[in-house]
Formats: sequence, structure tokens, C-alpha cells
Amino acid sequence: RRVIYFSRHGESMANVTGKIGGDTHLSPQGKLYAKKLPDLLHHIMTSKRDSQSLHVWTSTLKRTQETTEFFGARVVARKAWKELDEIDAGICDMMTYEEVEQKFPEDAHLRDQDKFNFRYRSGESYADVTARVKIVLNAAEEWFAAHPRHGASLVIVSHQAVLRCVFALLMGDVAQEEVPYIKVPLHTVMRVEWIKGPGIVKEEKFHV
Ligand code: F6P
Repeated sequence: RRVIYFSRHGESMANVTGKIGGDTHLSPQGKLYAKKLPDLLHHIMTSKRDSQSLHVWTSTLKRTQETTEFFGARVVARKAWKELDEIDAGICDMMTYEEVEQKFPEDAHLRDQDKFNFRYRSGESYADVTARVKIVLNAAEEWFAAHPRHGASLVIVSHQAVLRCVFALLMGDVAQEEVPYIKVPLHTVMRVEWIKGPGIVKEEKFHV
């Protein structure tokens, strides 16, 4: 039985202002989520008999690190992965979707046509993100091999586009054009039981 706990970061200041990308701090609501997250995890892990010792993987961005700030002594290992950073929006970083539409209407149109393959200028596409998150999933495979009796629980806190790509890879049967539209809500813990090879056994969502 291979279980991974996933969450997006708590709401960020950029989320509040509708800006994409950036490296902003959590909003007050986001900070509230960060404060509630340790208890929420404790409850789920108790009911599922998962280990309470946490191996925490985040992105290198402030908002995922701040989301795991209150985990305390339960964290036995921690790693920040560049591969878990949000999709790089290139020249559109820290713009609202309306600004992108006004400044680069062509790009906005192209993205609408083929969101999976559209690459932001000087940035990334969902296809690019998919390629780099494979590195993290391979590392997770190794992690499971090294922790066969589940002496610890793996908790991954990342971002919307990244988690869409991760879930698509885990499920294995998602059409490319659907990947950028997978629903990954804020302030929600997703506990995933993952069978060998692609195919999630069970995905359960828990809200604060
Ligand atoms: O709005 C939050 C966010 O994580 C942005 O930083 C990112 O660019 C976006 O979501 C990804 O979602 P979409 O591909 O739907 O724009």
C-alpha cells in the first residue's frame, strides 16, 4: 500500500489579487489553512493508521514552505524541490489573466486552443511540467522502496498546475487536453493510494 498526501499551498497574496505565478507570501486565509493543516493531517492519519512521522516535500517557493511551517517535531525529513515549483509563466508572471489577454491576446488565444502544449514565452507548458514532475514521482518510488513498512508518511505540498500533472501521471489514463483542467481545490488534503505503475486506487479529499 503506497500512500501519498498532497495539498496545494494555502491561499497566497497572488491568489487574492488574481495574479499568476510569483513568489508571494500566504494571505491571512492561507495562513489559517497552514495552522489547521497539522491537526487535519493528524486526524486523517489516525483514522487511516498511517504513520504520524512526516517526510515533507515542498517546492522552493515561499507559499509551500509557509504552508508546512506549523508541522513541528513530527517532521523527520524535509526537502524543497525545484521540480515542484509552479508552472513558469515566463513573461506573464505576476499578471492577471485579463492583463495577459490585453497584452498578449495571441498567446491567450493559443493557450485556450491547446492549454497542455502552450508554452508561455520564456516559460513552460503543461507538457514541460509533466516531464519534470516525473523526476519527483521516480523519487517517490524510491522513497517507498526505502520505507517498506511505512515508518513515515510522505506529504507533498505544491501548486495547482504541478499537482494536475502529478495526478494525471498517477491515474495514467487522462487525455492530454484534460490535464490542465483537473480540479485541484485550495485548502484541501488529497490522500492518494497508488498502485504499482499508473493508476490511483483511491483518492479521498479532506477539507478543513
Ligand atoms: O492561480 C494560481 C496558479 O497556481 C498560478 O500560479 C498558475 O499560473 C495557475 O494557477 C495555473 O493554472 P492555469 O494553468 O489554469 O492558469
